Amino acid sequence: MFNVQDIRKDFPILSRKVNGKSLVYFDNAATSQTPQQVIDAIIDYYANYNANIHRGVHTLSQEATDLYEQARQKIQAHFNAKFSHEIILTSGTTDSINLVANGFSSLLKKGDEIIVSALEHHSNIVPWQMLCERTGASLKVIPMNEEGELVITDFDNLLSKNTKLVFVNHISNALGTINPIKYIIDKAHQVGAAVLIDGAQACPHIKPDVQALDVDFYVASAHKMCGPTGVGMLYGKEDWLNKLPPYQGGGEMIAEVTFEKTTYADLPHKFEAGTPNIAGGIVFGAAIDYMNRIGFDAIAAYENDLLNYATEKLLAIDGLKIYGTSKNKTSVISFNLEDIHPYDVGTILDKLGIAVRTGHHCAQPIMDFYCIPGTVRASFSFYNTKEEIDTLVEGVKKAKMMLS
Ligand code: ALA
Repeated sequence: MFNVQDIRKDFPILSRKVNGKSLVYFDNAATSQTPQQVIDAIIDYYANYNANIHRGVHTLSQEATDLYEQARQKIQAHFNAKFSHEIILTSGTTDSINLVANGFSSLLKKGDEIIVSALEHHSNIVPWQMLCERTGASLKVIPMNEEGELVITDFDNLLSKNTKLVFVNHISNALGTINPIKYIIDKAHQVGAAVLIDGAQACPHIKPDVQALDVDFYVASAHKMCGPTGVGMLYGKEDWLNKLPPYQGGGEMIAEVTFEKTTYADLPHKFEAGTPNIAGGIVFGAAIDYMNRIGFDAIAAYENDLLNYATEKLLAIDGLKIYGTSKNKTSVISFNLEDIHPYDVGTILDKLGIAVRTGHHCAQPIMDFYCIPGTVRASFSFYNTKEEIDTLVEGVKKAKMMLS
């Protein structure tokens, strides 16, 4: 049974004060908070298992290696990948995307085309622009509409035999729109293009099935899913990961090294040079366990209820405009008060103990589309409550009164 008051007891930070007020944490799209079970897993690793992995015959090293590889298997099971070696542990979504972009440098040529969407985070734009500069390929953009949805008929028209790669986020970080990724994957495959889905904003709300999606690459970060920062994952189909060259050279990613020639390790180690974030990887597994114990169906239903409640209450404020009004969206509300800069609203909310993100949210093209400098973004998680939303609504009204 989903009981938000019980769940809140798992998160020590939710009972702290900010500026003398009870914290209302609505910046979950930037990073989620950490339950005690995950904090305990971090302490347990350093208290009992800390050692380098894949390297020593000694017991600690073997135990740490087992825990790390068990975490990889947990991640594999969670995303329903066929093999655990299709899961590469990285430092996060941005690292995962750069790994793939770097790998395609040797596979693309002038005349090839890459499609991204107008709803992307900068991390799913800039690495592809850099890839285009290196290879002579060109970047095409699926446009968006006023509701903050992709204009999917334009995507159909952009596809051609020149399309080699398509990159789209599963859910927009700035607006919360859930994109029709299954349609995009199937259409792209019809012209032989590979598809990478940025799942950073989806994984806190949805349990993706990479085999059912038939996606080529899927990337995510642990810190959006109640896990630690500095660790994330890349799922890649085995064939693709075998085709891509290594990203970084170093220890652990090799089979044999001489000064004349180096051969590379098998998957997944080919892409994991150097000592990884061992604690992070292990604790990523603990965070996935935590979220699965709550259950993604219960999480989605509860967060949808919060989204509807907050949307109705905020829209009742005169002069407040919500950006991103797709029917198919998750618990993110981006908004502005008429003629008031989002930073000013965010600063007043902070004084009231309410944490929101303000600015362009690393998605400047979306802000350009709406001709605004940025928005105030409130993003809700399964540990938030309607009472907290009432506090936000009162805070926004106060900000409006003070700044008008
Ligand atoms: N990408 C994160 C956000 O949307 C940091 O806030």
